[in-house]
Amino acid sequence: MQVFAILPAAGLGTRMAGPQPKQFLSLGGLPILIHSLRAFASVERIKAIYVAVRKTEIDRVQAQVSEHGFSDRVHVVEGGDTRQESVVHALNALPAGPDDIVLVHDAVRPLIDKATIERTIDAVAQHGAAIVGLPAVDTIKQVERTAHGALITSTIPREFIVQAQTPQGFRYDLLQKAMSDAVEDGFVGTDEASVVERAGLPVAVVHGSQVNLKITQPGDIELAEFYLSQRTH
Ligand code: C5P
Repeated sequence: MQVFAILPAAGLGTRMAGPQPKQFLSLGGLPILIHSLRAFASVERIKAIYVAVRKTEIDRVQAQVSEHGFSDRVHVVEGGDTRQESVVHALNALPAGPDDIVLVHDAVRPLIDKATIERTIDAVAQHGAAIVGLPAVDTIKQVERTAHGALITSTIPREFIVQAQTPQGFRYDLLQKAMSDAVEDGFVGTDEASVVERAGLPVAVVHGSQVNLKITQPGDIELAEFYLSQRTH
């Protein structure tokens, strides 16, 4: 059984101010993408990492990958117009067999730690599919959007809620089949688990952490800088 990782990094980061896509912004002096790559490269059982970027970024990312000494295990491929398309492109480039494991991780979650990646791999080996999820601490409301704003329709007991993070890992054959069915049906999910759930397959949840935040909006970099400064290793 081999383990591969895919880092979709072809987003434009439109919710963040500024022209630079968020995966290339600096965090503690290094591009966010390099932090994410470093975490996955630290896991010895990961054989290769595929990074999907926009066509115009391929050369720049390739140069960064070489500069940071990752060229032997990291491959840069062209992404697509949606996150799902970027993942499909990378999946098509993987030299994986049916029983191998594929982890998908948002390039913009730079503070993922080695132990969580390891636990995700173990859970995939056991269950076939597993994602990192964070139990909800807030009370969760379902709403209806109206012309006058959102109106609450119900309260969802929070013990039934986890917030999906990444990595999300799957046995290669399950993910490949679920993805090709989704493409055929025109289904576009915001994560890989939704595509696999749709195929009726069980997906386990591994405990995540608030530190594994997704850099999305102004202020997130400052929070990530803080978490980084608290790291002991
Ligand atoms: O847009 P969102 O925050 O959901 O992006 C999550 C991850 O998916 C980011 O790392 C982003 O670069 C990536 N992505 C991609 N291809 C796209 C859109 C997003 O690889 N077309």
